[in-house]
Amino acid sequence: MNKYYIFFALGVIMYISSCQTTRFPQGEAAYLAYCASCHMEDGKGLKTLIPPLAQADYLQKNSEDLACIIRNGLRAPIVVNGQAYDQPMAGIPNLSDVDINNILNYIKNAWGNDYGTIKLSEVQAQLEGCK
Ligand code: HEC
Repeated sequence: MNKYYIFFALGVIMYISSCQTTRFPQGEAAYLAYCASCHMEDGKGLKTLIPPLAQADYLQKNSEDLACIIRNGLRAPIVVNGQAYDQPMAGIPNLSDVDINNILNYIKNAWGNDYGTIKLSEVQAQLEGCK
């Protein structure tokens, strides 16, 4: 009887660990290539220089602006989780609309974030309206 419990426990462990792998592998790869150097692999940013994306209220409250931030950068004083940031972020113009879509879905759901998903058509509408 005991050995069945072991198989059951192994099954539970495998199921849990499979849930923790990202739902957005392409977004994760692009994040690691283009964003992690500043925002860090764990999304926590860097002290008072680089704002966090993990559990960041800014990410949740400004979901309409995120595609334009990635394409064109951000050069304005902002407050993220109560901390002020005022270093410019350069845009990353060589990321395609699809890349941006993948990255956004990754960061909106990584590190315990639960900020929903975004469709390519919504990303493109945001990009057409960038200031
Ligand atoms: C060279 C460093 C650097 C890189 C690379 C970079 N960022 Fe940023 N990012 C910053 C800085 C600095 C700010 C704060 C800008 C400001 O205060 O105006 C910022 C702000 C942000 C914000 C808004 C604030 C927040 O914390 O929610 C988002 C979203 C964001 N970056 C996402 C990304 C994504 C996604 C990538 C990769 C495609 C990326 N950044 C690449 C430095 C960087």
